[in-house]
Amino acid sequence: MRTLLKNPSQIVTVNANGKKFKRGSEMNAIEVMTDHSIIIEEGRIQSFVQNDDINPDEIDKIIDVTDKIILPGLVECHTHTAFSGSRAEEFKLRLRGLTYEEIAKQGGGIINTVEAVRKSSFDDLVETIKPRVEHFISQGITALEIKSGYGLSFYDEIKLLQVINELNKIFKISIVPTFLGAHTFPPEYNNDHEKYIDLIVNEMLPYIAEHNLAKFCDGFCELTAFSAKQIKRIFVAADKLGFKLKLHTDQFNSIGGLDVALNLNAASVDHLEVLKVEEIIKFKTSDTAAVLLPGVSFFLNYGYAPARKLIDDNAIVALATDFNPGSSHIDNLHLIMGLAALKMNMTIEETITAVTLNAAYALDLSNQTGSIEIGKRADFAVFDAEDYSEIVYSIGRNLNVMTIKDGEIIYSMEQ
Ligand code: NIG
Ligand code: FE
Repeated sequence: MRTLLKNPSQIVTVNANGKKFKRGSEMNAIEVMTDHSIIIEEGRIQSFVQNDDINPDEIDKIIDVTDKIILPGLVECHTHTAFSGSRAEEFKLRLRGLTYEEIAKQGGGIINTVEAVRKSSFDDLVETIKPRVEHFISQGITALEIKSGYGLSFYDEIKLLQVINELNKIFKISIVPTFLGAHTFPPEYNNDHEKYIDLIVNEMLPYIAEHNLAKFCDGFCELTAFSAKQIKRIFVAADKLGFKLKLHTDQFNSIGGLDVALNLNAASVDHLEVLKVEEIIKFKTSDTAAVLLPGVSFFLNYGYAPARKLIDDNAIVALATDFNPGSSHIDNLHLIMGLAALKMNMTIEETITAVTLNAAYALDLSNQTGSIEIGKRADFAVFDAEDYSEIVYSIGRNLNVMTIKDGEIIYSMEQ
């Protein structure tokens, strides 16, 4: 079966020339094709054909995208979408002057959501999260990472990972599960943190590996959460079991997590709002992606990660929403692109690379998605715009009108 994606005005390929990521100045090179259509076969990009050379006899199905702009399917590489409950009350407290960290210290924050998740059944969680996934798909997203981290007991962390795996079965997009048992310490281990780490290392990780419930192991290295030494113990164990690694680090304090993650060749280090100037150079030759989350800076009203300096210093930069109920109640990747451009001085081309190829790389998926290249999966976001720059310029507005996964239309605005 051959499908023709016919006559788009622009194809923004983000061509990586077979490489897995773009670093530094390469992020600006996104390659735009005009006067071409795309032939899809068996869910993969088979070839590009000049519009004048299309042979209708060789085509079984046509998806007409005349006047539309085609991008690789967007990749959302850092979310905490698997939560229940609301933290609107905490939002109100913050508006009255309390900080996110103060709320966490008073027993609110992540623990507030943990209480809600522990009370939610598997079925409740699936039903709560489904519309959130649909909303991501409507934005042109074809790969979505979702973390656990609001269960923090053996039973509830496994329940969350099973929910995320169930969602991956329900939806055609790739939903990538990440284990975030090391999000914060649950109250029942307040007096014995090492015992909770024992539980992660000796029970949770082996079970999750055996049942193939997560691809990544993540952690939160922060004064109010896990020390660098504690993260190292968890990561060494996870690495041995075959997990790929990600780390929340340098969000509020820089306490050594960065080196632990870089030394263990983590797939990504995420946040970096307080990354020290002298540490930026570490990304120059490292193959670990820097996943930046400007929605958190916007939502918590504090400094932005040094995106410009990282890119100028040759880092591999990706962008994500960090969608969660406490520090970034933002599920809009298009708003994130706008914030990256306006608040972090990223060019339009860099933001596009950061939500396609480099985000796919942060999920270890860039060999199959994230750019429009022959042999890759036929994953596309289709935009109603005159020029690709409008996708970023229309701050927070979703110009995606069609989402295609493996050559199939999975969302269309007309539907
Ligand atoms: O990525 N930093 C820790 N975790 C989330 C926030 C989670 C929450 O507040 O519920 C984050 O910012
Ligand atoms: Fe996060």
